[in-house]
Amino acid sequence: MKEKIDEYLQEIDSLKANTKDELEQFRLRFISKKGVMTDLFQAFKEVPNEQKKEYGSQLNVLKEKAQEKFQELIDEVNSVKAQDEAQSIDVTLPSPSNTGSIHPLTKTKNRVIQIFERQGFSVAEGPEVEDDFHNFTALNFPENHPAREMQDTYFITKNPDTLLRTHTSNVQIRLMEHGKPPFRSIMPGRVYRNEAISARAHCFFNQVEGLYVDKKVSFKDLKQTLYHFSKEMFGKDTQVRFRPSYFPFTEPSAEIDISCFICKGDGCKICKHTGWVEIGGSGMVDPNVLEACGIDSGEYSGFAFGMGIERITMLKYQIDDIRLFSENDMRFLSQF
Ligand code: PHE
Repeated sequence: MKEKIDEYLQEIDSLKANTKDELEQFRLRFISKKGVMTDLFQAFKEVPNEQKKEYGSQLNVLKEKAQEKFQELIDEVNSVKAQDEAQSIDVTLPSPSNTGSIHPLTKTKNRVIQIFERQGFSVAEGPEVEDDFHNFTALNFPENHPAREMQDTYFITKNPDTLLRTHTSNVQIRLMEHGKPPFRSIMPGRVYRNEAISARAHCFFNQVEGLYVDKKVSFKDLKQTLYHFSKEMFGKDTQVRFRPSYFPFTEPSAEIDISCFICKGDGCKICKHTGWVEIGGSGMVDPNVLEACGIDSGEYSGFAFGMGIERITMLKYQIDDIRLFSENDMRFLSQF
């Protein structure tokens, strides 16, 4: 009997169970009423009285050991199962929840804001549905002047005084009519023009306009501000060129060109082999605009500029179709 008990103790010690079946085998052999323990207790009855004490305690040790081991094996099998479950998750599969990415226009807008904020500009916003005064009249567009036609305007049929703003210059007026100089703000926002939609033009797009009004602001401040912006946005070696132009609200006015940062001025498809690309318009705020907002144009002067956010983004990422920005095609958006 002693040998049997020792043998079982050893067997219990060395046993391992990884599966539920092996666990069940153990239970049947050592725990259940039909197992070896019942046989041993049966045999114990035949043991002479003087040996009962010794064998009795050995049997109890074996029984306890069996129960302890059984609990251990249960824990083991459960942890193997948990591991298996963890391994059955394919971590290389794409995540089921798509967190999305930042829209390329938002990326450009944020970067533009960051560059100008570092130069002391704050961000101002205004309404997209605007009245004639803030979109045209206060900006020195004479009544019935063809300049109004420069910007194919969406008028609200029921009230021709109401329109969708054609530029963010309306925010200049809203800032100046209610505040006191100095003003140093940029104004990002969506604008609308009644244009045929093509790869190069859309009936809505985004602009960022800048306005700086203070005593003694000159064209040299405008140039320096835009030099800095262009180098930060398009790279250190970027050159800036001002081309004479016309806007009713600035005098003098100039288009802003930057040297093509793709071919470095050598000529390529993007710059149509000129070495230069246009990024916006600019100029010194016309005194009539300051006066329309109640600002003394003898004391104050200012500059303004306006750039297309789509245009900058298309140049920066070499995107050749403006429609991509508003089509919500994941194949396009997920690249940013
Ligand atoms: N508002 C002009 C446009 O939309 C751009 C501009 C802004 C030009 C400020 C000069 C100064 O075309």
